[in-house]
Amino acid sequence: MKIGIDRINFFTSNQYVDMVELAQARDVDPNKYLIGIGQSKMAVIPATQDVVTLGANAADPLIDDENRDKIDFVIFATESGIDNSKSAGAYISGLLGLSHVRAIEVKQACYGATAAIQLAKGHVALNPDSQVLVIGADIARYGLHTSGEPTQGGGAVAMLITKNPGILELDEESGFITEDTMDFWRPLNHSEALVDGKTSQNVYLDFFNKTWTEYKGKTKLTLSDFKAMLFHLPYTKLGTKGLKEVLLEANEDEKVELTREFEAAKRYNNQVGNLYTGSLYLSFISLLENSKDLEIGDRVGLYSYGSGAVGEFFSGKLASEFKDRLPQINLESRVQVSVETYEEMYQSQLKNDGADIELDHKNDHSKFVLTGSKNMQRQYLIQ
Ligand code: HMG
Repeated sequence: MKIGIDRINFFTSNQYVDMVELAQARDVDPNKYLIGIGQSKMAVIPATQDVVTLGANAADPLIDDENRDKIDFVIFATESGIDNSKSAGAYISGLLGLSHVRAIEVKQACYGATAAIQLAKGHVALNPDSQVLVIGADIARYGLHTSGEPTQGGGAVAMLITKNPGILELDEESGFITEDTMDFWRPLNHSEALVDGKTSQNVYLDFFNKTWTEYKGKTKLTLSDFKAMLFHLPYTKLGTKGLKEVLLEANEDEKVELTREFEAAKRYNNQVGNLYTGSLYLSFISLLENSKDLEIGDRVGLYSYGSGAVGEFFSGKLASEFKDRLPQINLESRVQVSVETYEEMYQSQLKNDGADIELDHKNDHSKFVLTGSKNMQRQYLIQ
């Protein structure tokens, strides 16, 4: 039985900061951000969006009267959780009107959504008629004036995992690895990530080589079996480095093709920044929408990495309806904010101090909005 991604959608805020302006404000050569890091714009998430609303806004268009009763499992992957006990899956099920479901939250840094997909795949294998809603939602925060600052961003990707999927049929095998590593972590008393940037880059690339080698050993496939290689993209330059490793195995034609496809795959990430769990899947959407020469049956490789650290290389084949089910992302309609406004928005995120607060949400026209906190409970609005 074929199992995989039947539908997919992406959501982020409609505000961004331009990386040239951010570089100038930080007294950095803009080419460091544009070329060295590989980012042009960075999504700025307003206080009125948290992972629950980002996830709900991404997932809502995937749910209709036909599939509402078939979804029996909601797996919410995030590393920007809002509660130590109640899962974001439970919150979002309420907002989306899904009640006959199992709802949970999973965590392993940016790898979480891939873990969720693997769980969903096993669930559908045992329950072929069920559909699993997988969400990866995060807000990437490192702190103002830190070296991680230009690699922030945020947003959510939602996917339905089913049998006979319309978009991507997952292959059976994958290569995977876990090593207890302190390359990036978010202690419970921190809303920002702590990071050893150089170590994180090294582990990312090391795990890519290890999981790709394991995958090839298990499947006997080679680079020539792939139309495109996708990477978790904390910033696009790191994916370029991953691609460079694998291109050592490519002939000239393969180099041209894989580089061209990667250009398509990194376009949206270059405009949004890191969204942690959702980044690899935003890159997948970017490939589908920006590549001119994909065909049904083409195999794509996906490298998922989550600091801490887990890596997995897996693959899938484009399914019969991948061209008709694209979410039609329009990043051009977003509004640019100044660095000053971005800094204010950054500081205005809901604090974990338990105080009652009402957020001004008149400028947030998203369907699902966070309006504040009352009696230590987040207040959500569907508008
Ligand atoms: P940094 O120290 O500010 O930057 O940190 P740098 O000095 O290393 O420069 C970056 C690149 O820009 C270098 O290129 C420079 O040469 C180049 P590279 O050597 O890498 O090829 N550069 C220039 N290029 C053109 N013109 C110029 C110029 N100046 C310099 N004028 C770092 C960069 C990414 C480390 C930092 O932003 C950071 O710590 N970010 C957060 C951590 C991160 O994203 N790590 C990625 C791997 S871990 C991961 O993917 C997991 C993650 O998503 C979290 C999770 O799993 O949940 C992060």
